[in-house]
Amino acid sequence: MLSMNIQPATPKNIELAAVLIRDGKLVALPTETVYGLAADATNDKAVAEIYALKGRPQFNPLIIHVADIAMAKHEVEWNEKAEALARKFWPGALTLVLPRAQTSRVSLLASAGGDTLAVRCPAHEAAQAVIRAAGVPLAAPSANRSGRVSPTTVQHVHGEFGDGLALILDGGACGIGVESTVIDLTGKEPLLLRPGGITKEAIEEALHDILSLQAEGKGGGILKSPGMLESHYAPSTPVRLNVTAPRADEALLAFGPHVPSGAKCVINLSVAGDDREAAARLFAAMRELDSPEFSAIAVMPIPEAGLGAAINDRLRRAAAGR
Ligand code: TXA
Ligand code: MG
Repeated sequence: MLSMNIQPATPKNIELAAVLIRDGKLVALPTETVYGLAADATNDKAVAEIYALKGRPQFNPLIIHVADIAMAKHEVEWNEKAEALARKFWPGALTLVLPRAQTSRVSLLASAGGDTLAVRCPAHEAAQAVIRAAGVPLAAPSANRSGRVSPTTVQHVHGEFGDGLALILDGGACGIGVESTVIDLTGKEPLLLRPGGITKEAIEEALHDILSLQAEGKGGGILKSPGMLESHYAPSTPVRLNVTAPRADEALLAFGPHVPSGAKCVINLSVAGDDREAAARLFAAMRELDSPEFSAIAVMPIPEAGLGAAINDRLRRAAAGR
């Protein structure tokens, strides 16, 4: 399907994206993790429009995208750990939660009224170019309606919003395929709020420190990262985890070379059992198998190592989600 608002990420269209953003419009753009729905983070009306279009609960704050460390320092109070992590992993799939800086002009709505901001410097060339051309930090949640699987291609984005967006910049399929890792650096100890594209192991090595996991905001505790609500990544078809014997009316989401038979349909995330390949294919596969044709999406066990942690996190949410 050819669509008017899907355009390749050429220099001309990157400039157009920046003009639209400065004018308060929303633009979908590629990042190395998933496609983002981007707006000028300093524009209250534009940020409000993100929440409205996504149908996102307003207590769930947005990630602020910057072009480099200097731009981040204008928005948040920097510290030693932030410096170490940004030097190692930026640009890249790592989001840092820090105290909002006095100098920040980011809309309070983007941080859901809180006194912290989540900042990330994306590695995708097109995202970098749009931020620099717009000259403002961009609020950019994943470009999907709230509660649905994140998009990793322009077709997914168009499937979510149709022609309701002024522009969907096409930068190809996202290389990583799961969202950024979110680390809270506001407390004494760094906290892992969301497993994602940069592994916990790599972050611990860079920090010379063990990452504590956030206690999930259940049972009356504070919800440190509201986006981690369990139902966040829900397809319409039920999801069944750790399946070794799929049923005849199920679709099988497989992993590795040894695939049990019996399912109606199989997508293998990685025949070689590679966590990176599996992450890059996860959301597209979930979209493809999300069909009334199947009684459930049966998922084979996937090892926790490396990006397996982020993959299993999204799958558990999908299974918990309806
Ligand atoms: O890979 C990504 O991070 C993608 C691409 C587009 O960059 N973006 C993304 O944004 O996933 P979003 O808005 O869908 O996810 C934001 C996550 C949520 O879990 C949210 O609760 C958390 O970051 N978050 C944002 N601001 C926060 C803050 N101030 N404190 C704690 N958590 C925050
Ligand atoms: Mg999202």
